[in-house]
Amino acid sequence: MLYLRRMKREFVKTDDGSMTIYLPDLDENYHSTHGAIQEAEHVFIKHGLKAIDSSERMNVSVFEVGYGTGLNALLSLKHNPHVFLTYDAIEAYPVTRDETDKLRYCELIGEKYQKHYDVMTRCPWGRKESISYGMTLTKIHKKLQDYSLEKGKYDIIYFDAFGPRAQSEMWEIEILQKMYEGLADGGVLVTYCAKGQFKRDLKSLGFEVESLPGPPGKREMTRAWKPEKEEIDEI
Ligand SMILES: C[S@@+](CC[C@H](N)C(=O)[O-])C[C@H]1O[C@@H](n2cnc3c(N)ncnc32)[C@H](O)[C@@H]1O
Repeated sequence: MLYLRRMKREFVKTDDGSMTIYLPDLDENYHSTHGAIQEAEHVFIKHGLKAIDSSERMNVSVFEVGYGTGLNALLSLKHNPHVFLTYDAIEAYPVTRDETDKLRYCELIGEKYQKHYDVMTRCPWGRKESISYGMTLTKIHKKLQDYSLEKGKYDIIYFDAFGPRAQSEMWEIEILQKMYEGLADGGVLVTYCAKGQFKRDLKSLGFEVESLPGPPGKREMTRAWKPEKEEIDEI
């Protein structure tokens, strides 16, 4: 998919008034055309970020596949229910600053978040940056295929790759295995995708898979848990 870097990007308004990017060559959008913000809040925030219980610890860590515009990171900052969020995101083909400026997300999400979004957009790749008192962001400029996640590091994975029709290599079982290994026990992977083969692959890796109602315009989404290690009774 090297040619992704050079693909034309168009800016389109989705049904909730928020913008997304459309790639005509792939006939693929960065977000749902039924509502970019609505989809992100439903799939990644409600069923991902807020599904983890952090009542007995300070830090929760997120790994995002496909940082793109930074919308999921920005919404995670806005809705974070945890004391501290460590947010790492990988992206092979970064969206430029000029492009993110056209999206005007903070007009809908809240003008007070503009300064945080500016830091997110402008901060260098490959360095941990403080975005607010409660959140750090590390943007990783790499292809997911060439990156190894630290084993057991993450509580939540936002799996936000382009869909299997447009980019099947992102949904291969080797990639999903990498996700499984990167999750902590009891950690969760969330995605908008609800394809049968994808769910069967997750199950074969040991995930406990849930089909949940999708965001507006989509019947289902997927949430997959890495089981807690069974406690072994001491004799
Ligand atoms: C559906 S979009 C992500 C949207 C993003 N989460 C957002 O909120 O804007 C998929 C993203 O995956 C990125 N991508 C494509 N191939 C990749 C790869 N091999 N490794 C990492 N990122 C990749 C694309 O450039 C794109 O930004």
